Amino acid sequence: MATRSTIMDTNSFRAEHADALDAETRKLTDKRSQLLGESYRLFYRNPVHLVRGVGQYLWDAAGDKYLDVYNNVASIGHCHPAVIAAVHEQMSQLNTHTRYLHERILDYTADLLTTVPDDINKAMYMCTGSEANDLAIRIAKAYSGGTGIIVSQEAYHGTSELTSGAHQHWAAANQSPPSLVWCRPPIATALTHPI
Ligand SMILES: Cc1ncc(COP(=O)(O)O)c(C=O)c1O
Repeated sequence: MATRSTIMDTNSFRAEHADALDAETRKLTDKRSQLLGESYRLFYRNPVHLVRGVGQYLWDAAGDKYLDVYNNVASIGHCHPAVIAAVHEQMSQLNTHTRYLHERILDYTADLLTTVPDDINKAMYMCTGSEANDLAIRIAKAYSGGTGIIVSQEAYHGTSELTSGAHQHWAAANQSPPSLVWCRPPIATALTHPI
């Protein structure tokens, strides 16, 4: 049974909404629950079936166009031609992990480091946001020697054991669990007052 979460379950589709869906959407939601793990969320009471994206726009299967102000995956817009070309070129050539020598990761890193303050002079690459947050916590712990973490309430940090907050496991393994301190995000405070 998936754990209920404010950030992930607000506005999410639930099985009791299924009867109100059109046949095509219902087919997809049924197939999803048959094939995907229970803790995957699906947004909206009437789920959106997206089929295409260009720049800041998305289109659903019925041809309706949306301005994408929410999905956070495509950082420079959907289907950017330069990204498509670079990914295509690399995937046609070589797809390995980082334990071999290659110029491209070095050239890319040198470029990337010109965009950040001088005292950030090294990079490490992760595949997902969960891993990036996990690594950030590990680096902060190694650097500071501390274990405390300040976490914004209502924020989503990822799916790894650490980022999803399953720190009891650490205690069970006789390691110190991190002390978590929850803070209210500024926007939640602002929204308690009428705009
Ligand atoms: C704010 C934030 N942190 C972390 C993550 C986790 O990223 P990923 O799904 O790539 O592991 C997400 C993903 O939506 C996110 O929005």
